[in-house]
Amino acid sequence: MIELDHAEKFRTDGFVFFPGLLPRDLLKRIQEELPKVLDEPGPQRFLEDDGTTVRAVYGLHRKEGVWQEVATDSVVSQTAKSLSNSDLYVLQWKVNPKSAEAGDQWEWHRDFTYWQAEDGLPAPRAFTAGIFLDDIDEDNGPLRIVPGSHTGPALHEELEAMDHQEITDREADDWSAAVSANLSFAISDGGATTLSGGREVFTACGPAGSVVFFDSNVVHGSLPNRSRRPRTLALISYNPVDNAPTDWPTPRPAYFVNLEPTPLP
Ligand code: SIN
Ligand code: MN
Repeated sequence: MIELDHAEKFRTDGFVFFPGLLPRDLLKRIQEELPKVLDEPGPQRFLEDDGTTVRAVYGLHRKEGVWQEVATDSVVSQTAKSLSNSDLYVLQWKVNPKSAEAGDQWEWHRDFTYWQAEDGLPAPRAFTAGIFLDDIDEDNGPLRIVPGSHTGPALHEELEAMDHQEITDREADDWSAAVSANLSFAISDGGATTLSGGREVFTACGPAGSVVFFDSNVVHGSLPNRSRRPRTLALISYNPVDNAPTDWPTPRPAYFVNLEPTPLP
């Protein structure tokens, strides 16, 4: 069970970091299953601009075994429940391997911008557990988070003027705009600095098995991996059941988002 100050920190900073949270045997089982998931061709798998390196694999909420266990019945789901006052379900479950020397950047962005625009998520109440499947340090492209930025104003005014149908029509042929190194709703360095309120960027470094929980509206991103080591980050997003989208004119494919808001046990 997490301490109260973790929940408080999560609310105030928009993130909370748990070094080495995952038990060693669970971490090992995930690492053993990982190559199969990365090797499986299909629309759920996205490549880097080089056309060969795997950048992201979505749809793990549809897999059983250890993938289901870690998301719904593990120290990760327990901690997620402790950080929220609501019944939660798994909204999205993906892995970003950020390969050695080839894994590219993730520009500054807020996840809620995408979930609201593309999936019709009503409110920014979702959050994500970023699970380190490798040791992560400054050199292999750690996740970077702008503390407190989840409470700042929305930065994409153009979205306010578009309706959900327009946005999903625009992206329906190419969902990769939400996955590429040039994101559709990226935030500039200037925007990130403004939202930081003068606070320093938090760089999520630690041993494999560490987990960082971050708010759907907190600004985050990462630099390319220039090291000779991969930086595999598994990302489970949780959303309150009563915040599930209710209107799906043209939903993204089910490998992107879970269309069945089944509460965690
Ligand atoms: C994300 O925002 O989806 C993850 C960024 C990263 O893998 O560094
Ligand atoms: Mn993100």
